[in-house]
Amino acid sequence: MRLLVLGGTHHVGRAVVETALARGDEVTTLNRGVSGHQPPGARALHADRTDPAALRAALSSEPRDDGAWDAVIDTWSGAPQVVADAAGLLADKATHYGYVSSRSVYRWPFPVGGDESAPVVDGDPAGADGEDYAAAKRGGELAAAAAFGDRALLARAGLILGPYEIVGRMPWWLRRLEQGGDVLAPGPPDRPLQYIDCRDLAAWMLSAAERGLGGAFNTVSRPGQATMASLLEAGRDVTGSRASLVWVSPEVIEAAGIAPWTELPIWLPPDGEFAGMHDGDVSAAYAAGLTCRPVEQTVAGTWRWLQEEGYPAPPGGRPERYLSLDKERRVLAGLPPLNADRA
Ligand SMILES: NC(=O)c1ccc[n+]([C@@H]2O[C@H](COP(=O)([O-])OP(=O)(O)OC[C@H]3O[C@@H](n4cnc5c(N)ncnc54)[C@H](OP(=O)(O)O)[C@@H]3O)[C@@H](O)[C@H]2O)c1
Repeated sequence: MRLLVLGGTHHVGRAVVETALARGDEVTTLNRGVSGHQPPGARALHADRTDPAALRAALSSEPRDDGAWDAVIDTWSGAPQVVADAAGLLADKATHYGYVSSRSVYRWPFPVGGDESAPVVDGDPAGADGEDYAAAKRGGELAAAAAFGDRALLARAGLILGPYEIVGRMPWWLRRLEQGGDVLAPGPPDRPLQYIDCRDLAAWMLSAAERGLGGAFNTVSRPGQATMASLLEAGRDVTGSRASLVWVSPEVIEAAGIAPWTELPIWLPPDGEFAGMHDGDVSAAYAAGLTCRPVEQTVAGTWRWLQEEGYPAPPGGRPERYLSLDKERRVLAGLPPLNADRA
């Protein structure tokens, strides 16, 4: 395919570019050229997308005779207006528009087992504000669909893991496991997890583009693709760590004032308002060809990337928000674990 990736230098976008190049696609990226890693082999166009004139100028600098694309993949996560501008400009030049959306478009709390028919938040396809993430992603979906109709694919990803993850969730766990000692492992160990490796998301979006697949799809693994234990054990193995996983119950974690997801990335308590986040219905995406690699490969790919390129700085220079070693020690010292698997 002739592919245009809007973004392309971080997590999902970089995986899309690399997967497409490996498939033999002809790839062009469009970004400002100020962050991330420009994959070699892709042609780079530069523009600030928030400036529609600059976007138009960059796209018209494309030297090919017809300036046509088989597919566009858009990774934008801010104001919907930016998606509207790009999609509007490309609607008669591209056959397919894949928008990397999010399960955040569903009204909170996500229904356990919810599929694509679950109620979504309101979104404004012309919205100039990206502050409200859920509304921005829904607005982005509406903007893509307004320009491309059923040629727009809305890939509602949940938690995205794998290499190039600038958010730093899996990198934080790997660094913590590598440090060793007693590691607070949030229980229960068999807590099912639902996520997608960026490389599997990329492969599916490209295959969907090739097949002209449109519409909204929840694009994560089946619930239980991994458990908290299989994820942390894979991390301990790949880092060669002698860390001991000290399993701590959700009640103890809550009592200690540790925030799920933010302080302990990836982890959410199995019950209550968070239950649906690792338990969405993904049968439509699987029926449409989604496949998800085993957690060991996701962890190993992330570790390999960290060894080669180092740990990413927190996005936007934000201070680390994850559990501190001090707080972890205090909790482990003061409270009885469910069980301790000390090496
Ligand atoms: N992380 C998760 O768990 C998760 C879950 C669900 C959905 N998602 C969605 O997944 C997507 C993440 O995609 P990603 O990892 O590829 O993206 P990303 O980390 O948001 O990277 C943004 C890309 O866009 C470029 N960019 C930023 N500002 C720009 C501007 N003003 N003009 C032109 N280009 C600009 C950046 O390059 P330059 O800085 O060089 O311009 C970079 O290539 C988002 O849409 C997010 O909502 C994420």
